[in-house]
Amino acid sequence: MNPGMSLLCILMCVIPVGCDRVYVHPFHLFAYNSESCKGLEDKERLVKTFVPISVESLITPAYEESVRNKSEEEPQILGVDHLKDSAFVLGARIYRKLVEMHTGENILLSPTSIYQSLLIFYLGASGRTANDLQSLLGFSFPSDSQDCTSKIDGHKILPVLRTISNPSGVDELLFTKLFCLFSAPNVHLSESLVHELAFADINFYVRAVDFTNPAQAGEQIDAFVKRKNAHTSKSSLADIDPASNLLFATYTQFKAIVKGASLLSEPQEFWTDSERKISVPMMRVTGNFEHKFDNNRNLSVIRIAVSESIFLLLLQPINNENLAGAEAQYSLEPSYLWLQKLSLRRIDLTLPKLSFESVYNLQDPLNKMGLSELLGKSANFSIMSDVNLNVRKIINQQRFELHPGEADQAENPTEQNEGVETLSITLNKPFLIAVHEKESSALLYFGRVINPLQ
Ligand SMILES: *[C@@H]1O[C@H](CO)[C@@H](O)[C@H](O)[C@H]1NC(C)=O
Ligand SMILES: *[C@@H]1O[C@H](CO)[C@@H](O)[C@H](O)[C@H]1NC(C)=O
Ligand SMILES: *[C@@H]1O[C@H](CO)[C@@H](O)[C@H](O)[C@H]1NC(C)=O
Repeated sequence: MNPGMSLLCILMCVIPVGCDRVYVHPFHLFAYNSESCKGLEDKERLVKTFVPISVESLITPAYEESVRNKSEEEPQILGVDHLKDSAFVLGARIYRKLVEMHTGENILLSPTSIYQSLLIFYLGASGRTANDLQSLLGFSFPSDSQDCTSKIDGHKILPVLRTISNPSGVDELLFTKLFCLFSAPNVHLSESLVHELAFADINFYVRAVDFTNPAQAGEQIDAFVKRKNAHTSKSSLADIDPASNLLFATYTQFKAIVKGASLLSEPQEFWTDSERKISVPMMRVTGNFEHKFDNNRNLSVIRIAVSESIFLLLLQPINNENLAGAEAQYSLEPSYLWLQKLSLRRIDLTLPKLSFESVYNLQDPLNKMGLSELLGKSANFSIMSDVNLNVRKIINQQRFELHPGEADQAENPTEQNEGVETLSITLNKPFLIAVHEKESSALLYFGRVINPLQ
């Protein structure tokens, strides 16, 4: 073959690959183009609104019935990487503020639920409110241009986010989500928007509540949530603002089993700080786990698979580092450093049995970020409703449980143990938890355990 021919061959082989890898700015993946911008104002106009049924009603309204007729959504993978990073970063910003507000307490947040909550408001927002929410969601347009092509289309994000946050194959654990939108009785909501948000794989309810009697409103909401979720929760609705007319709440529950772990017969010591120790139920498991001691970051990491598609990381400060030093690893750069360079080791792991709840009003960390009016009474939600919405509360409640597996699953330690060095690790001091989806490595939960009995 002459040199010209081989060069041609090489080019022919290389070009298609090169084209495949053309870099697409993630912004454009989700942005409106000039074609879809045409008539956008018409599309965004409120055409049909409805008033949700009362929170006390026991019937299933038609707008929920129709959800069952929706077909299964195909998983959307284009743009997953950008979204998982945006949710990671937004979660880290909120986490920092929660740490300032909840000294000495356990915290658990779900970056994907936070992202989803704010995306729902983005879908209903216009004007300034939409711009501000868009930046918060990680889509700042590089220029100050205000035309339609500098906007992202939330409807394109929603299915991608669903792909990340609803992993398949989670049978081995309990992973449930309940999203509720409560509106005042005089509030009309966009029918198409609510229909888009409701989806078969997520429990989404829209109900009317009279907020002018805050105590009664709180009780009604708690009773409703209990009915839909069997979610035994402490009430987080003590101080509803009677001037608000919309309240959004997400409840997630994550319950996993550590396979092969058995409960120790005696409670064990756990140091909540350097002076105070308590006795807590613990479990022990011996097995091969992916692990690392990261001496540059003073962090020990153990990875535990809890289902086909979800794994859990236990992060412990080492080298006399404190918890705050370890928490700083959850940063505003989507680094995922704690996932890297793990290697299999035989480990004898002792850790507390966990069952705790973390509740906060997303408005509180937003206030601390200087965004107190973002969703307040001057916000523009003209796509969601024809009245001015005033959202004072976005409740995010997470319930997290980690239990030992069946006792008979426990390995016989003498069998495989011979000649293999076993590392002993005990989580008897405050530590961090990260829960990831396996395929995308999206961060589903991040939190800290300061007191396992809290
Ligand atoms: C759902 O689908 C069934 C059968 O296709 C139909 O009879 C029913 O009216 C639909 N319900 C709604 C609320 O769209
Ligand atoms: C909300 O934003 C839209 C689009 O920018 C604008 O037309 C409308 O007047 C705004 N509404 C309010 C109440 O500010
Ligand atoms: C790790 O700890 C050492 C002291 O033990 C400290 O000098 C170093 O700055 C720490 N590294 C990080 C990333 O915090």
